[in-house]
Amino acid sequence: MSYKTQYSHSKTNPMEYWQEKSKLIDWYQAPNNILSQDKDDFYHWYADGSLNTSYLALDLHVNEGRGDQIALIYDSPVTNTKEQYTYSELKILVAKFADVLASQGVTKGDRVLIYMPMIPQAAIAMLATARLGAIHSVVFGGFAPHELAVRIDDATPKVVVTASCGVEIEKVIPYKPMIDKAFEDANYKPDTCIVFQRDVLNADLIPQRDVDWQTAMATAEEHAPVPVLGTDPLYILYTSGTTGKPKGVVRENGGHAVAMKYSMDVIYGMKPGDVFWAASDVGWVVGHSYIVYGPLISGCTTILYEGKPIKTPDAGTFWRVCEEYKVNALFSAPTAFRAICKEDPNGAEISKYDLSALKRLYLAGERLDPATYHWLKDITHLPVIDHWWQTETGWAIAGIPVGIEMLEPKEGAAGVAIPGFQVEILDHDGNAVKQGESGYIAIKLPLPPGCLPTIWNNPERFKTGYLTSFPGYYVTGDGGFIDKDDYLFIMGRTDDVINVAGHRLSTGEMEEVISNHKDVAECAVIGIKCELKGQVPLALIVLKNGVDETSHIHNNLKELIREQIGAIASLKEVLTVDRLPKTRSGKILRKVMRQMVDGEEVQVPSTIDDMSILDELKVGFGSLIS
Ligand code: COA
Ligand code: AMP
Repeated sequence: MSYKTQYSHSKTNPMEYWQEKSKLIDWYQAPNNILSQDKDDFYHWYADGSLNTSYLALDLHVNEGRGDQIALIYDSPVTNTKEQYTYSELKILVAKFADVLASQGVTKGDRVLIYMPMIPQAAIAMLATARLGAIHSVVFGGFAPHELAVRIDDATPKVVVTASCGVEIEKVIPYKPMIDKAFEDANYKPDTCIVFQRDVLNADLIPQRDVDWQTAMATAEEHAPVPVLGTDPLYILYTSGTTGKPKGVVRENGGHAVAMKYSMDVIYGMKPGDVFWAASDVGWVVGHSYIVYGPLISGCTTILYEGKPIKTPDAGTFWRVCEEYKVNALFSAPTAFRAICKEDPNGAEISKYDLSALKRLYLAGERLDPATYHWLKDITHLPVIDHWWQTETGWAIAGIPVGIEMLEPKEGAAGVAIPGFQVEILDHDGNAVKQGESGYIAIKLPLPPGCLPTIWNNPERFKTGYLTSFPGYYVTGDGGFIDKDDYLFIMGRTDDVINVAGHRLSTGEMEEVISNHKDVAECAVIGIKCELKGQVPLALIVLKNGVDETSHIHNNLKELIREQIGAIASLKEVLTVDRLPKTRSGKILRKVMRQMVDGEEVQVPSTIDDMSILDELKVGFGSLIS
């Protein structure tokens, strides 16, 4: 069946389409109620189906005779470690860790917060939580204690799972002090913290509260999977919005399992036994979907890589991993390949490795710029596929559906809408624009299985943030257009979210931190172009009257952002200005400033309060202007 036929089937009869696709997974009890709506009118898939995600990812493969196949490869150039786990081995470890969690009182519906570096125990903790029908919330290791505390207060986890440290390129980052600080700062106090002690650094445990992972595992039994309903949450993953408070994206078991299996086949063309590598982090949605759940539910071998694209030890490291494990598909962010290209522009490193197993490269997380697209295509001679998605959807909204039809990727486009996603481009009033014209990218409801049904603890925020601007649609927060061949072009966010090295960050959150500084009268944070990271934040501050020494304030602010949000925010530039450009009603014109710094055509709204400020700013921006 062609892509067009499948897409149109999913559009005209979503219920029938996704009933058929529900058969892709092995339910304990197959669902009859395919699509339902709750009291808030939010959609849910497979409400009365019964399943267990950890069973689908592990036990099923063992039962079907794939127990000896490698399920997970751990490759850590930063610690010189390589490990491989078969499906049977991984199942036993997960079942035992589920028992450890159960012995700490974790049962179905409880939350478990996981703050781990890229080690197999992170995946084991996720799968063990799922095995109990509990709900995990993984927090990226680069976030600071304050961010952890905010998530602890929102998710109210019974248990926190962590490791003694993370290892970055040249430094060991102790995790335990950050966890202790977060426990101190949070209003809600989890009962227990389970700590995996790494050889590089041991952590001090707090008696009564902390449990040593290795000791607990030594006496654990194997815990059986607990059946859950299709609509029971599997996880909460926090992501940045326009305000300081992160949003807890909820993922339900049933729709997620179907979407994972479907997307591994349709979007990535992967079959059981294939080797899939998502070079990301378990703390991000890409890690959830395509390091852990997607490949394992599909019976593939997944790779968990603890390293960087460069410097661990060199720009050939991605290609080394691809050769060593015969990777069939590699997925990473454009920023990773820009870093490789910068160090190895002529592909000297890549020519050292045998990449004959590699069929395709996938990119997402930010726009794939044409230069990187061409460079990658030229040095690998492989299809380079850009695909577009969000934490909220959990899988790609647009891409190349290679499992249905190998459509030709187009430079600058993120592919075509994947069956299930009714993508439309709307104008300010919610009317569809003409093909080829730009506007707000919206998805007609219902979203397909696997996408968020709501925001944890905050259905109102789900409504106001996504559903009320254009009734009947989910608003993605991205702008773009669809060309005459139905390819989607993503042109950037329409809100105050920025993308730094493929990491989604909120400028609003940074502004909240900065405006709390005693010397700052007001501020604005904008995302400006960066050759390597795509975007980096630039903070503009106006000081209170009488404050004139600025360099120490700039350093204080950079430190504050590190402390409150984390080093990944990469706030490297702070600029003091006399005033900020505003509309007559007092709204700060962030877009105007971004356009000025990025050297784009500046669209000055007619409502600007005072035009002369633009000349002042131009002088102030100086060499920052690209
Ligand atoms: N734990 C603790 N700290 C972390 C961290 C983690 N898991 N990840 C990053 N950091 C820290 C870094 O050590 C760095 O700190 P520093 O300012 O003290 O040096 C800071 O956060 C910024 O890190 P990063 O964004 O990684 O920038 P970089 O300049 O060190 O490296 C790249 C640049 C391009 C190599 C890197 O950003 C990269 O690999 N990007 C790909 C990201 C990716 O795969 N995203 C995928 C989403 S699909
Ligand atoms: P996250 O939720 O962290 O995955 O970030 C999602 C956001 O990243 C999207 O809303 C886009 O702004 C951006 N994004 C992700 N993939 C792409 C892509 N292929 N092209 C352009 N932007 C992308």
